[in-house]
Amino acid sequence: METKTAKLLDGKAYSLKIHEQLKSAIAQLESIVGRPPGLAVLMVGDNPASAAYVRNKERACESVGIASFNRHFPRETSFSELQSVIHSLNDDKRVDGILVQLPLPPDLDSVALLHQIAPEKDVDGLHPLNLGRLIRSEPGLRSCTPAGVMRLLQEYSISLEGKHAVVLGRSILVGKPMSMMLLEANATVTIAHSRTQNLQEITKNADILIAAVGIPQLITAQMVKKGAVVVDVGINRITDQNGKSRLIGDVNFEEVATVANFLTPVPGGIGPMTVAMLLQNTVNSYQLSVNS
Ligand code: GUN
Repeated sequence: METKTAKLLDGKAYSLKIHEQLKSAIAQLESIVGRPPGLAVLMVGDNPASAAYVRNKERACESVGIASFNRHFPRETSFSELQSVIHSLNDDKRVDGILVQLPLPPDLDSVALLHQIAPEKDVDGLHPLNLGRLIRSEPGLRSCTPAGVMRLLQEYSISLEGKHAVVLGRSILVGKPMSMMLLEANATVTIAHSRTQNLQEITKNADILIAAVGIPQLITAQMVKKGAVVVDVGINRITDQNGKSRLIGDVNFEEVATVANFLTPVPGGIGPMTVAMLLQNTVNSYQLSVNS
């Protein structure tokens, strides 16, 4: 029986440190600017997971001193109505960040809606201009979840230079920007996805394995190289045998903890880092708008 246990990458603890840093930066800036930073989170419909995420973001904003301008719309809200709300938030001087909580109801064109957000307020980093800046390694707003992964790896002094990083998942929210950030840090990057053949052969070769596919406990011990760093971006709500609902990741935590050197928990790993990066992006936009 294997006894080794991976070291935890404690995103919850580190995110609270970032909150403290942001809180004091905001307190200093606010006295000069005369207003706090502002974030508007737009939610359409009643997806319970989205509602929980939005509540989380609002609480985090409150804890650091960011003003919330959140709006909740019924699921039948039209594209043009949402578009005009975004345009008025683009013009609102009190608002530094705008985020459209995804997924939207299927009849709304989310890509077209994201294009309406002014790039300098796009704190989710999903506007094509910000994604283009990422590809070119230019400064710009970066997607929160992959930025959170990078900050957490940095906090634990995990070097990426020349390492083989495997990203499992190719979404625009996580997989694609994650791959670009790892490449920017000089990792050798492989992107695997639902059509990838011989997945285990690829994951087993990863020094850094990022799981972002949304398949509960897909990653088992035999898919992981000994001593690897495993980052679990999955947040899957399941109902266990006792009928209780809980969150689990894309990684089988107990198994993989016996093989990996470093591992993120779910919850308490990348989730809180995503929120911390959202706050950081909002403060960055605030600082830029103040200086411009
Ligand atoms: N839904 C789940 N995660 C996210 C996120 O990081 N940003 C947005 N906009 N929607 C999400």
